[in-house]
Amino acid sequence: MTDSRPPVTTTDAGIPAPSDEHSLSVGPNGPLLLQDHYLIQKMAQFNRERVPERVVHAKGGGAHGYFEVTADVTPYTKAAFLSEVGRRTDVFIRFSTVAGELGSADTVRDPRGFAIKFYTEDGNYDLVGNNTPIFFVRDPSKFSDFIHSQKRRSDTHLRDNNMQWDFWTLSPESAHQVLILMSDRGTPRSWRNMNGYGSHTFMWVNEAHERFWVKYHFKTEQGIDNFTDAEAKAVVSVDPDFHLRDLASSIQRGDHPAWRLEVQIMPFADAATYRFNPFDLTKVWPHGDYPPITIGRMVLDRNPEDYFAEVEQAAFEPANLVPGIGASPDKMLLGRLFSYPDTHRYRIGPNYLQLPINRPKVPVHSYNKDGAMRYQPSHDPVYAPNSYGGPRADTARYGEDAVWRADGDFVRAAYTPRRDDDDFGQAGSLYRDVMSDTDREHLVSNIVGHASQDVTSEVQRRVVEYWRQVDPDLGARVAKGLGTG
Ligand code: NDP
Ligand code: HEM
Repeated sequence: MTDSRPPVTTTDAGIPAPSDEHSLSVGPNGPLLLQDHYLIQKMAQFNRERVPERVVHAKGGGAHGYFEVTADVTPYTKAAFLSEVGRRTDVFIRFSTVAGELGSADTVRDPRGFAIKFYTEDGNYDLVGNNTPIFFVRDPSKFSDFIHSQKRRSDTHLRDNNMQWDFWTLSPESAHQVLILMSDRGTPRSWRNMNGYGSHTFMWVNEAHERFWVKYHFKTEQGIDNFTDAEAKAVVSVDPDFHLRDLASSIQRGDHPAWRLEVQIMPFADAATYRFNPFDLTKVWPHGDYPPITIGRMVLDRNPEDYFAEVEQAAFEPANLVPGIGASPDKMLLGRLFSYPDTHRYRIGPNYLQLPINRPKVPVHSYNKDGAMRYQPSHDPVYAPNSYGGPRADTARYGEDAVWRADGDFVRAAYTPRRDDDDFGQAGSLYRDVMSDTDREHLVSNIVGHASQDVTSEVQRRVVEYWRQVDPDLGARVAKGLGTG
């Protein structure tokens, strides 16, 4: 017969606990005693339950699953996890909003994070993208200013639409991304109903050391579905955790969400002469120029068991690139390579890569050691080079080959302009050629609603001009809605 009694409560040291309900006191009504180690452990541990929330993308949810290769990409990359059709790799994904805090509502207007960790045989590969193929700025030195303008004021601690439009209209490169943000794609119905994009251009390298530029698009198999502005706002008051609940309950009932991975591949040499800078994060590569090809499928089929351990402590970093995949001259990507491991060391601690959610599913043989909360052993010899059989880098096999040539004086300057580099062209073609009449109507009403709230008339004037440059009809409709035209 199995024992159906629950296990005995213990302290965190595994010692049977004296009581689940009563602290140790001098008589039933007397003062409490310092030697009640169990009470003190409970209170002290509780006081330390939180790590700092992520400085951006604080509110989110995650799930486990797998990625399966469906087409041969060995002509383009030697990445081991992409090396044969049918090969499966475990993944963990985290979805998030950007500007809100840890307890903020899921359905507010915001881009959504779409961060994937692939546990590959060559270590972890992180693709830390969003649900939009582009971004607000193209130089990392503007990122913290951009985020400050989207978060809270110093004086009132309030979010402030005026501050947001002030930044955006003074940063015209933001127009393409703000257009998507202000469309109904800024309020997705669920995380399952949106696409995910690697956004940046990355490099792929094959076994013959040939290089290609690549962009990733994860296309939802559930179909794109968005809330209108009014629906999204209504859901905030009914269920602030709507997206978190939707993902968890869908996986729990066996309805496993899936995405098709499409890639666009640009021959290495094309980048030098392409009509606009293919590394500019505010632009897509038109499908007509570089048609997407389907190469894989991602399925999410397992919920986390412990939200804190697996989702809150998950640490994604664009610098986790495996052999066969490299960075590109996108300045935003290059800035991000530094930023993420730096924030993880602060937010979680220097040994964040040893936590089960972050550690690779292959052995680690690095020469790093010690530091707060380290628990996996390091081994002698603890230095390289050594003559005692320690690990050795295989430079012939893994030496740096995801590289490009750079030459020039040290400058602080925008990318060298090319023929079709501009801030508004692609936004205009999205508005005119891709959006439906309903998309355009909702867009105008979303912009007008947002820019009507606490935005000064001077900034409103710039808002109209900003949209006029995207498209004269859009500018005119916004001006009419704001009562300025
Ligand atoms: P295409 O007509 O080949 O592609 C248009 C793309 O837009 C599709 O990927 C479509 O995919 C997506 N899309 C459709 N409706 C919307 C919407 N309301 N908001 C945002 N995206 C939408 O044209 P091009 O490749 O020449 O691109 C034209 C414009 O489309 C670009 O300037 C860009 O603004 C936008 N776009 C382009 C993408 C690209 O990688 N080329 C990716 C996404 C947008 P889906 O509905 O599956 O998202
Ligand atoms: C999270 C910095 C641009 C997607 C973060 C975090 C930082 C950061 C510090 C918090 C990480 C954590 O605490 O775990 C930056 C900087 C950028 C930049 C400096 C530009 C220079 C981008 C871009 C994208 C993006 C362009 C998408 C294409 C994300 C996502 C997360 C995130 C998805 C959440 C990851 C998670 O779920 O844990 N970013 N970011 N960021 N960023 Fe960025």
